[in-house]
Amino acid sequence: MSDLRFALLSGSTRTGSQSGKVTRFAAARLTARHADALVDVVDLATTPIESWHEGLWNGQPTSPVWQATSATLAAADALVVVAPEWNGMAPPALMNIFLMASKGELAHKPALLVAVSAAVGGAYVIAELRVFGAKNTQIVYIPEHVVIRDVKNVLNGPEPASDADERVRARLDYGLGLLGAYAVALRGVRGSGLLDRKTFPNGM
Ligand SMILES: Cc1cc2nc3c(=O)[nH]c(=O)nc-3n(C[C@H](O)[C@H](O)[C@H](O)COP(=O)(O)O)c2cc1C
Repeated sequence: MSDLRFALLSGSTRTGSQSGKVTRFAAARLTARHADALVDVVDLATTPIESWHEGLWNGQPTSPVWQATSATLAAADALVVVAPEWNGMAPPALMNIFLMASKGELAHKPALLVAVSAAVGGAYVIAELRVFGAKNTQIVYIPEHVVIRDVKNVLNGPEPASDADERVRARLDYGLGLLGAYAVALRGVRGSGLLDRKTFPNGM
């Protein structure tokens, strides 16, 4: 489908992060797959979003940076959440997004989780994000996810540098392909007339 819109979130606040590299690689693969789709990248290393803002509850204006990010997320049909594993968990700035996105920006939208590890980690951050952060945002993580291990040695150029690089590229393409199908399918859910965020803004 040509009019899809994707937003990719790079969850590392480190300058020159590997998560940023992975995010840009995934964005390019989405653009190659969906020639007419809009593909937005939000890199938390270059997007200084405030840590929670009381204005989300009392109506005071949030920062222009958050307002722009909120609009990007709200416009998306589907998301890619690229999460580095830091001490076996997601970075605080990434979890902060799930506090800030309290206006339905992510609600009932499919998301592909991509974990990033310089070593052989990544499983913990996938588990954390699948369990925590979706209750009130109502983001819908698709069953397929990607764990990118030994990240410094993969996804560095147009051609795979090793068998492992080739395997991870295939896995990422598979996840991104499925994400596009979920994007189309969940548009139907959001347009069904069944959602009632006024009565039920938060999950149980
Ligand atoms: C504070 C911190 C904690 C980390 N803890 C882990 C970890 O628990 N497991 C792991 O596989 N890698 C860990 N790493 C290394 C990351 O896998 C590595 O930095 C990788 O490049 C992803 O992070 P980046 O996107 O910020 O570059 C940690 C890195 C930082 C900065």
